[in-house]
Amino acid sequence: MATFARTLVTSALPYANGRIHIGHLAGAYLPADIFVRFLRMRGKDVLFVCGSDEHGVPITLRAMEEGTTPQAVIDRFHGENEAAFRAAGIDFDIYGRTSWPEHHAATAEFFRRLEAGGHIEKRTIQQYFSTKMSMFLPDRYVEGTCPKCGAANARGDQCDACGTSYEVTDLRDPRSAVPGDGSTPVLRDSQHWFLRLDRFQERLGAWLEAKTEWRANTRGTALGWLREGLRPRCVTRDTEWGVEIPVDDPERRGKRIYVWFDAPIGYVTNTRVWAARRGAPDAWERYWKAPDARIVHFIGKDNIPFHAIIFPAMLAGQGDYTLPDAVVANEYLNFLRAGEAAAVKFSKSRGTVVEVQAFVDTYGADRMRYYLTAIAPEGSDSEFSWTDFLRRTNGELADILGNFIHRSLSFAVKNFDARVPAAGALDEAGRRALAAVAERRDEVGRLIERFQFRQAQIAMLELARLGNRYFDEQQPWATRRSDPARCAGTLHVCLQLGAGLARMMGPFLPESAGRLAGMLGVEDPHAPGAWGRIGEDLLAEGAPIRPPEILFPKLMPEDVPQ
Ligand code: 2FM
Ligand code: ZN
Repeated sequence: MATFARTLVTSALPYANGRIHIGHLAGAYLPADIFVRFLRMRGKDVLFVCGSDEHGVPITLRAMEEGTTPQAVIDRFHGENEAAFRAAGIDFDIYGRTSWPEHHAATAEFFRRLEAGGHIEKRTIQQYFSTKMSMFLPDRYVEGTCPKCGAANARGDQCDACGTSYEVTDLRDPRSAVPGDGSTPVLRDSQHWFLRLDRFQERLGAWLEAKTEWRANTRGTALGWLREGLRPRCVTRDTEWGVEIPVDDPERRGKRIYVWFDAPIGYVTNTRVWAARRGAPDAWERYWKAPDARIVHFIGKDNIPFHAIIFPAMLAGQGDYTLPDAVVANEYLNFLRAGEAAAVKFSKSRGTVVEVQAFVDTYGADRMRYYLTAIAPEGSDSEFSWTDFLRRTNGELADILGNFIHRSLSFAVKNFDARVPAAGALDEAGRRALAAVAERRDEVGRLIERFQFRQAQIAMLELARLGNRYFDEQQPWATRRSDPARCAGTLHVCLQLGAGLARMMGPFLPESAGRLAGMLGVEDPHAPGAWGRIGEDLLAEGAPIRPPEILFPKLMPEDVPQ
């Protein structure tokens, strides 16, 4: 694997039209945060950017529904979502906004450079128009029957049932989705600006060819687009809400840049603002334009074409930007209600939404992070259920990890005067257990580098499992009298495993990792370079330890919704 001097990590910018829920978190945010924390712990130069996506139909629809303005909607949800991410321990370097003037300027710059390179052209297209509302209807204001699978209520540009993207004019039996409309729209001519994706066919083909390590969903979708042949794509819309089209042309009236053109440029804007705030306005280029930097996008699967084809084409068209090194797309997390056989989408109207802030307030960030990583939809869709949440956080976090820490620390506090006992002459089992710390560290690290977070967390927990087995086999409660030196050696090893765990938990369970480090008197798990010291700088014999707090108190069945 190539090595890089710097890594830019981005998480999909969530629309500021509602509160983020745990399905979002499991898709594009938690895995990115684990990756970033791990890189920081390895002492790497990594920048983590995200922010609100504040244009587009979801915002205007919400404003219409609430009888308010798009600005009022984005101001509210930008703040709420930023706070919810923080509560979940998602540690962005910047959480920006696409309503920032810097972003409008960056979008105009991208558009102009593409136009100057001959990659943008104006065309006349047929667009749905509602005679009832006297307005052109952007794609998402049109609903109908999916041309591919026949599902009713398909969206104008994409079918939720089969996942196909298409042109709005391909939709069967179209009707207007504008609140209070519902009429059958008619086609009218409208002038729009197109990105000549076809001109990037070869460049993107060569770039994707080399990405053999990408997940099948991402590479497969991107290669599918290339096989079909890239076609020019409309990047403006008939709407009043969005970035102005930077052209001197009366035709631009009543039109704006398409949200999916400006949103990914938000990653660039937010990096620029981050740099400017640090007083080093050019520092953003070290992430976007340097050959020794890599860009890694974390997204949900519905965002794949935009991150694996369209945005890379936009970057290529700028001339001096790097293309992403990896696009990591998760499948969907669905919600399985008690007593039901099939999982459903998280949906506010159906009462199946679990909002991040509420979840953290009730159960704490680390329980949520643990469970969402344990069921991460990495290779296929997966299911959240309250029963399973209870079972796994009690049975794994509390019974394996929490229990190992608690029994080891309380034994040492009680019987060894709250100090790390002497190792003495360790037997084979003791030496093997100690060696497992560095082995697990490397295994967890390898899995995280490959974006296999679910497996990585299992590998981390394996060290606690091993510790419990070792503790049981060594029976320190018996050797305490029969062979005190051996008992000391056993506890010495257990505490070293605990110190290894304190740091290995860092990327997954940041808050508990800090608490455990405090009890054992080891360094801040998030200190730069701390990862490499796992299993290397051992607890000194005689060093003080603190009486343990319970890291993960057990939940009772009545603590979760039935
Ligand atoms: O699907 C979404 O929620 C979009 N707002 C994601 C945008 S990702 C990026 F391009 F900004
Ligand atoms: Zn369909």
